[in-house]
Amino acid sequence: MTRSNDYILEARGLHKSFGSGPARVHVLRGLDLHVHRGEFLAIMGPSGCGKSTLLHVMGLMARTDEGSVCIDGADVSQLGESHQAEIRRRQIGFIFQRFNLISVLSGYDNVKLSLAIRGLGSEGVQELLQSMDVAGVAFRKPGQLSIGQQQRLAVARGIAHNPAILLADEPTGSLDSANATELLGLLSRTNQERGQTIVMITHSDEAARAASRVVHMRDGRIFEHA
Ligand SMILES: Nc1ncnc2c1ncn2[C@@H]1O[C@H](COP(=O)(O)OP(=O)(O)O)[C@@H](O)[C@H]1O
Ligand SMILES: [Mg+2]
Repeated sequence: MTRSNDYILEARGLHKSFGSGPARVHVLRGLDLHVHRGEFLAIMGPSGCGKSTLLHVMGLMARTDEGSVCIDGADVSQLGESHQAEIRRRQIGFIFQRFNLISVLSGYDNVKLSLAIRGLGSEGVQELLQSMDVAGVAFRKPGQLSIGQQQRLAVARGIAHNPAILLADEPTGSLDSANATELLGLLSRTNQERGQTIVMITHSDEAARAASRVVHMRDGRIFEHA
């Protein structure tokens, strides 16, 4: 029998709706998903099917109406707001489609601020930026960096606090194909060299091929096959 905490992240029987009455949209409909420790999982599905909603619920940025989210075997879905915020800060990293780097801060300070918010110091940031090949430009503001450099900084910021799980919502969605390929290579390397668990939402076949497993979202649920 598989022990429940062989999974770093589990969604069990999630239901989530928006709106009410005739305008009600039932987005997650009894969704189950098990994420293995150290895997690079891609979730594919048509636009509007609820992929971002799922990522928000699993990343404790939104609450589920029913069901539970477990991190490392512990149900975190019923915890109070401040306890959830603490888990989100410590255990979860995010990469956004448009990076969301803070434009008035240098690359280095973007990473440092993300750590400071989590009560962490900036030890190791320089090495991380070196390993991402942006140490030499990290004093520049994002607007003075290439798209490739910005995305490498966004990945560095997403993993600097060593989160248990890195969540990425269509990270290649606004990139040209060369930058998309580079970002996927970086995510694969982060997965392999650091053992970083990654859950990535994507529309792209190339992105799905970079992952170690692909699942599909349809009718508010997850399926192993398209
Ligand atoms: N905060 C919200 N309020 C109302 N409806 C929402 C909200 N977030 C998402 N939705 C609706 O839920 C559905 C799924 O959205 P989303 O999770 O963003 O899908 P995807 O990421 O797969 O494109 C869509 O119909 C969307 O309009
Ligand atoms: Mg989305």
